[in-house]
Amino acid sequence: MEEIRKDMRDLRRDFDFGTLDAKDVPKNPFDLLKVWLEDAVKMKIKDANAFVLSTAVNNQPDARVVLIRDISDIGIHFYTNYGSSKAAALAANAKAAVNIFWPDMDRQIRMTVAVKKLDGKLSDAYFATRPRKSQLGAWASAQSNELESREKLEDQLEEFEIKFEGQDVPRPDFWGGYELVPSYFEFWQGRPSRLHDRIIYEGTPSKWNTKRLYP
Ligand SMILES: Cc1cc2nc3c(=O)[nH]c(=O)nc-3n(C[C@H](O)[C@H](O)[C@H](O)COP(=O)(O)O)c2cc1C
Repeated sequence: MEEIRKDMRDLRRDFDFGTLDAKDVPKNPFDLLKVWLEDAVKMKIKDANAFVLSTAVNNQPDARVVLIRDISDIGIHFYTNYGSSKAAALAANAKAAVNIFWPDMDRQIRMTVAVKKLDGKLSDAYFATRPRKSQLGAWASAQSNELESREKLEDQLEEFEIKFEGQDVPRPDFWGGYELVPSYFEFWQGRPSRLHDRIIYEGTPSKWNTKRLYP
């Protein structure tokens, strides 16, 4: 136990992957988001599209990892169960925070977002591209509700395998996407000696202002 406490204190590294200069960043933060995502994919970073989604209800923040599945002109899309804890949190407070961290590129992106449910047709289209097992898994899981045993989940999966045998699996109406629309972005590029680059964008999808922050 003492060992891990010492390890935590002593773990440190310098960040030297790259730099971020206000004169080099695009006017539209989505362009930079796409470049950084592309870099992460090209570098074959595991779960390159993963981000932490933070919600807050009644002064109680909560956070979990989800996956970016698409990017529109105004936001990023992810998919989930509309009966889950995060869905209840988003229904109570449609403001959230996003954090993407790619340690292999010394990069972090933070966003403040407004959240809305995606149109059912977009959710249908994405659901249709999922592997069949994942589609059936969506039917079998009452995400975030208490589950009495692993066996029950597997039994339910089997029931849906039988129910939809020989046909396409339709999207459950309790499952679909959200669009997260940022009003604030921070792009963080780690630099040596903790003198990191931090460029922020504030504004609306049609007009953004940028600033540099102290690290
Ligand atoms: C790498 C990774 C990717 C994940 N992607 C998703 C996702 O896209 N959608 C989702 O509902 N849960 C995803 N999860 C599971 C969530 O982190 C979380 O456990 C689940 O959504 C329940 O959260 P909630 O109880 O706050 O609603 C992912 C977890 C990890 C670690």
